[in-house]
Order: sequence, then structure tokens, then C-alpha cells
Amino acid sequence: MNERIYSIAIDGPSGAGKSTLAKAVAAQRGILYVDTGAIYRSIGCYVRRKGIDPKDSESVIAVLPEIHVDMVYSEDGLQHMLLNGEDVTTEIRLPEISMYASAVSAIPEVREFLLEMQRSLARTRSVIMDGRDIGTVVLPDADVKIFLTAAVEKRAMRRVKELEERGTPRPYEEVLREMQQRDWADTHREIAPLKQADDAIPVDTSDIGFEDSKLLLLDVIRRRLGEE
Ligand code: DC
Repeated sequence: MNERIYSIAIDGPSGAGKSTLAKAVAAQRGILYVDTGAIYRSIGCYVRRKGIDPKDSESVIAVLPEIHVDMVYSEDGLQHMLLNGEDVTTEIRLPEISMYASAVSAIPEVREFLLEMQRSLARTRSVIMDGRDIGTVVLPDADVKIFLTAAVEKRAMRRVKELEERGTPRPYEEVLREMQQRDWADTHREIAPLKQADDAIPVDTSDIGFEDSKLLLLDVIRRRLGEE
């Protein structure tokens, strides 16, 4: 049995399929999946509930000491987010929380506040962690770094389908515009902007479906870990 502890970083813009793919890879390899976007979303959720403008850094920083975010895993391996003890797993997926998460994630003190929490998760076990700055900031020594992308139109289309299936349909144009805005905010912020790490392997899923993307990732990971 291989006892080696390793880490896999998956970064990329929203809607590239990071979480679905990372979850599938984690299940296949029997390692922990950590969705770091959910942590930023939990902070966004708190800020929204408090009626704070997420761009007002001072007010956001002032409430950080009141926030305790925990990640727990249910028996089926699903990640649940606890905000001061309350399960907010469903609430953080609301579309309006996306913008709050994006805005609070541009505040350096918020990133600093969450850094150690993310790093500690990868210290004692093998993980696949997805986010925007995992390969560049959180786990710069990750054994495998993947930068997952897809054309923004494709990503918006996938999100539209997902929302439709969830029974909360939204128009394509609106979803596309929001995705473009979020891409811009995530890549242009001053601290830890979304960018490909020098040693990351780019994977573009614009023209390949889920199964092929998963096989491709598993293959890239095996090769990077020297398993074949
Ligand atoms: O992956 P997501 O859509 O759930 O992420 C929500 C927001 O959080 C996203 O707009 C950018 C931010 N984020 C970040 O800045 N760094 C991460 N490692 C993960 C997410």
C-alpha cells in the first residue's frame, strides 16, 4: 500500500468544472476533496446576512473575528460548511452569494484569515484542493498542479443547464455577463489573482465532456506522481 501523502491543486475560473472533476478524482483515488470556494462563500454569506457591503473592506475586516468557519465531511464524503456552527452548505450556492464571495475574496485580510485553515487540511493527508490560488499561494509545493479552463461561453452554457436541472432557471445572457464580471474580478484583484502557476499543467475542457475530462485528469495526475 502506498502511504505517501501528496497534494493536487486545481485552479481555474468559475464554471470550468473544477469541483465536479475534483470530486470525481478524489473518489477514484480515495483522497480528500477540499472546495476552497465554499470557504469564501461562507464568509460572503456572513457578510450578506449582516447587511455589509462586501466591497467595504473595513467593515468586512471588522467582523472577521466573529466568524468561525468549519468544514465537516458527512459519511458519504460530502463537504459541509458550518458557519458559526450552522450548516450553510445549501445557502452558499445562491447566485447572489457568488458576488459576495468574489468581493470578499479580494480583501487581503480575508485571504490571510483563511490561509492557515486551508494549508492545515493538506498537512496530514492526501488532498485534491480546488480554488483560484491553490497552486500559486496556498500549496506552492503541491505535487500536481492543474489549471482547468474552458471558454466562457461554454462555462456559462453549462451553468445554465445546471440551474435548469436544479429547477432555478436563469437566462443565458445574464449568466454569461455575471461569469465575465466574476472572471474579471478574480483575475484582476491585487492579491492572489487567478493565474496559472508556472509549473501547472493546463487542461482545457471546452470541447470535451465530463468522462473524457475525468480520464484526462486522472492520467495527468498518475504521470505527475510518477505512477507509470
Ligand atoms: O469556486 P467558487 O465559485 O465557489 O468561488 C467563489 C469565489 O471565491 C470566487 O469568485 C473567487 C473566490 N475564491 C478565491 O478567491 N480563492 C479560492 N481559492 C477559491 C475561491
